[in-house]
Amino acid sequence: MILDIRGEYHNYIELAAKTIREGGLVGMPTETVYGLAASAFDERAVKSIFDIKGRPQDNPLIVHVDSLPMARGLGEFGEKALKLAGAFWPGPLTLVVKSLGKIPASVSAGLDTVGLRMPDCDAALSLISAAGVPIAAPSANKSGSPSPTTAEHVAADFGDGLLVLDAGECRIGLESTVVDMTRETPVILRPGAVTREMLASIVGDVECANAFAPYEGGKPSAPGMKYRHYAPRADVTVVEGQSASVTEAIKYLYDKDLKKGEKPLVLARRENRKYYGKRDVMDAGSVNNAGETAKAIYALLRSADDKGYTKIYFEAVPKTGIGFAVMNRVYKAAAYNIVKV
Ligand code: TXA
Ligand code: MG
Repeated sequence: MILDIRGEYHNYIELAAKTIREGGLVGMPTETVYGLAASAFDERAVKSIFDIKGRPQDNPLIVHVDSLPMARGLGEFGEKALKLAGAFWPGPLTLVVKSLGKIPASVSAGLDTVGLRMPDCDAALSLISAAGVPIAAPSANKSGSPSPTTAEHVAADFGDGLLVLDAGECRIGLESTVVDMTRETPVILRPGAVTREMLASIVGDVECANAFAPYEGGKPSAPGMKYRHYAPRADVTVVEGQSASVTEAIKYLYDKDLKKGEKPLVLARRENRKYYGKRDVMDAGSVNNAGETAKAIYALLRSADDKGYTKIYFEAVPKTGIGFAVMNRVYKAAAYNIVKV
């Protein structure tokens, strides 16, 4: 059930906090994507998150806190972790630190670390405070499908039985940056709105796990990296290159699909829309603003499925700023089906 918390006259946060305290799950807004929230101290509730998402048991959950002191009660913060929390919390940054053993091992999938994040969202912070416990929450989508950026997306995946706090569309639209702080040099495990440059400006050297290649076996540092992700039912193709060649290539591929009886769609930069004539196009943000693309991408992938498209062509954005994280997600959604022109 979706409960709108944007009006003044409600006590839905308290209702949701009660649900969490009693071992239930709640759809929780954050500035990145909606989360599927449970008390991080409640092993049974945490297990039910894995069950209803269809999430592999070896993929750890992020634990959300309402303050730095709450975080420091759960994990070991070195000097660099403290600096990053000071600079970017509340915000879209998850710090993976050594666990102090207060959180059940199943939350972190048996690892001796814990991923901690203080979201920059009043509703989420109020919910954590009202529940009085740290909140374990993965993105509130069925495992593998695009993350939810509206309350309706959450309800579409989990049905009416789940209480979802509706704070409107998420401000950022992509999941948080995940950084491994357990080594001397921090390593970005998943890129997000807090970029490598932003992190480096606070703590110096920062490494980045390969963000643009498929997982190829071995033990990944972020277990989530090895799974199919963010994918709609339609086949996604990323087309990359100089703008004019990208639009020409997409038109060619689109028209070939049509002849084969497919239903293709272009996710285009707003400024390029005019080049596609009568072909089906959705607005994936302005050329100069990858933030718009970040905010829109998951909703676009979901709406393409809802409208029955079978092929999606995505015009690549430059891998700078938040464009880096956008391309990381879109490559995965496309299962690395990339056409370079
Ligand atoms: O923005 C976000 O991070 C959203 C909102 C709800 O906060 N949450 C989210 O959670 O995206 P999820 O479960 O979809 O992705 C969590 C990622 C996974 O790739 C997981 O492997 C990694 O964080 N992760 C969590 N704890 C970890 C740990 N202890 N060590 C390594 N990776 C960890
Ligand atoms: Mg997720």
